[in-house]
Amino acid sequence: MLVSATEMLKKAKAGHYAVGQFNINNLEWTKSILLTAQELSSPVILGVSEGAGKYMGGYHAVVGMVNGLLQDLNITVPVALHLDHGSFEGCYKCIEAGFSSIMFDGSHYAIDENVAKTTELVKAAHDKGLSIEAEVGSIGGEEDGVVGMGECADPDECKAIADLGIDFLAAGIGNIHGKYPENWKGLSFETLDAVQQKTGDMPLVLHGGTGIPADMIKKAISLGVAKINVNTECQLAFAAATRKYVEEGKDLQGKGFDPRKLLAPGAEAIKATVKDKMELFGSVGQA
Ligand code: 13P
Repeated sequence: MLVSATEMLKKAKAGHYAVGQFNINNLEWTKSILLTAQELSSPVILGVSEGAGKYMGGYHAVVGMVNGLLQDLNITVPVALHLDHGSFEGCYKCIEAGFSSIMFDGSHYAIDENVAKTTELVKAAHDKGLSIEAEVGSIGGEEDGVVGMGECADPDECKAIADLGIDFLAAGIGNIHGKYPENWKGLSFETLDAVQQKTGDMPLVLHGGTGIPADMIKKAISLGVAKINVNTECQLAFAAATRKYVEEGKDLQGKGFDPRKLLAPGAEAIKATVKDKMELFGSVGQA
């Protein structure tokens, strides 16, 4: 059964580790992540962007697929199904469809409008038992065709949003979605420290988990990050493994063109990536 992400992230913050949010795109992705979480006894969050939701057929299709896998694969670790970077309307759709967690990304609105919309969604989410994440300070890079420049959040604005009753907060600290450019200056631990001091026990979320060096990940966790989002790294691993299989001509041998065979190396590559991240984040054995 899906659970909200509130309890798992409170536990993570108190225990000084982070739960991974791995974004899903299809059945293979979802199955690989769930099986790895179960094998490693780790809580996990499945992230769904609005674009990926649409790709998979819609939010009801996603909920049906995930609930079916939880049952058929006997998944007993805590799993949350979370809308990633949701619009105001997208949040309502996911609440209705049966997600267990939502993120409202109001970072592009003026702070007053972000506050008003977040307040309304906190009530709508909590009335149905979902957890809710909000964002302050836009995260850089490209997500579903939207390009944002990495910003550092204002710690006072973080406090204002945290006080609205959200369950976890994404604060921009110079992190970027996708690959980091050569001249990236690294995470701003000064900002993270200031945000944590203002927001106390609130679990903090680090977006753009792909390509952040391990020492920075560990330092971010020590400063209150309890959820780390990873998307591009799974995509790169899946694409590389699939390309290798095709380049070696395995799709032309025997029944290698069978989608179950063709997509298997990619699915294994996702398992390996998720395992690496869960070990780095310290969530192994915490379920
Ligand atoms: P990456 O694609 O950089 O791993 O970021 C994922 C993310 O933050 C999703 O919200």
